[in-house]
Amino acid sequence: MSSAFRPKPALPRAGGVRKHFSSICGLPFQAAILAGVVGFTLAMVGGNFLVAAHRSAQANDAKSALQRHGASIAREIGRALDSGDDIQAATLARRSLKAYPDTDIFVVNQTGEVLLDTPTGLPAPHLKEVQSIGENAFTGWVGEGQYLEIKLPVRGRLLPLGTLHLRQPLHVPAWMASIKVYATWACLGSAILTFLYLSYMLRGMVGLHKVLERASYGDFYARAPQVGAFEVRRVIQRTHEALVCMAAAADETRKVYVETALALSKTIEAKDRYTSGHNQRVAVFAVELAEKIGFSEERLETLRLGALLHDIGKVAVPDNVLLKPGFLNDEEFAVMKRHPMAGDRILAAIPGLRDMADIARSHHEKWDGSGYPLGVAGDSIPLEGRICAIADAYDALTTKRSYKSAMPLEQALDIIEKDAGTHFDPELAKIFVAMKRNGVGYKALKKPECKEVVAETSAEKEIQAAKEA
Ligand SMILES: [Fe+2]
Repeated sequence: MSSAFRPKPALPRAGGVRKHFSSICGLPFQAAILAGVVGFTLAMVGGNFLVAAHRSAQANDAKSALQRHGASIAREIGRALDSGDDIQAATLARRSLKAYPDTDIFVVNQTGEVLLDTPTGLPAPHLKEVQSIGENAFTGWVGEGQYLEIKLPVRGRLLPLGTLHLRQPLHVPAWMASIKVYATWACLGSAILTFLYLSYMLRGMVGLHKVLERASYGDFYARAPQVGAFEVRRVIQRTHEALVCMAAAADETRKVYVETALALSKTIEAKDRYTSGHNQRVAVFAVELAEKIGFSEERLETLRLGALLHDIGKVAVPDNVLLKPGFLNDEEFAVMKRHPMAGDRILAAIPGLRDMADIARSHHEKWDGSGYPLGVAGDSIPLEGRICAIADAYDALTTKRSYKSAMPLEQALDIIEKDAGTHFDPELAKIFVAMKRNGVGYKALKKPECKEVVAETSAEKEIQAAKEA
């Protein structure tokens, strides 16, 4: 058995920050993050490589000059220190450094004591991360700065006095010193440019996403603007072509279902001449009422087919019961009451007619729960079933049957009005009765000033066209 009347699945709401952000900005945003990380890494690695290369070249250039003059400076200072003339040693040191203004010079003996230190006079700190770059030449770090250091022995006349250190900072250009700042800007720039570029090139994907979302809900007629990159435009074009084919196939399938429904409807009426035209009239009344309460075109079509097939379950009712002239006894009526569930099973088994199964099952339910087959009440009865119940009763009352004659329209409307709230949905019954008393639709009361009922609805036009034919 199918569930309660099954509406078409609703399209998801446009809201949802995460979904919206994901569909529009997801890929560009992820690419921007990646581009930012890659840009920062490349800038840092490349910048550090340039800095290292620059310092290495600078160290090699300075190393040669300091090595050439360092030996003579060490000899002169050695002689001065050996004779105990520290002032002379310092003077020699300052004079020798005029050609190397950025260079510091100091002498340390074997015990680590600083014998001479110019120009600052402060004890020279030890280098860290020392690397040898040639004979007596080293590079190392003090704080954030890198230095070149030349170490040469200082000898007296008889004994070695210590070691001469010539230390020169390895400078880098200002832009190299600010490599982290540039890397950060490169990161931001590449991320922003990547986001803007991909957003622009993929902007057609937003529309395509909506089109495919609607297609998944059975709407093959939505189209997306063909914008963005060539590949995106091509995919959109191909998608549109596929949707055209799918729409044609869906229309054809729908047509087959409708034809099947009409053929099934005719098989019911062929068995009983007294009910000939009953299904069509029920469909007309049901559609009139549904139009009045604002059904969509799609829901109206489902209701029309459901009303045409509401008694399809009677094919399962034996002829001696179905065609019996006069009233049914209790046992026969119990058999007849099986037809809603039989109709539900028949229609639920046919793809494309499953939505109508609820109408077949529920058209004999009553508002107060005293109906059959399930005895559900009120809003638990599918709306289409409540509409069909009124239409079914109105036609049954106003047409001739084997066991009764046709009832006048006014009297039938009085009965529906009286049973509103017990048998029928009170709101629907009120609307239906008002429509007919106001001369609206098929089998409506004619107002004194109305000579003929004017077809107002598509259902009425259908009936009138059938009459004229
Ligand atoms: Fe029925």
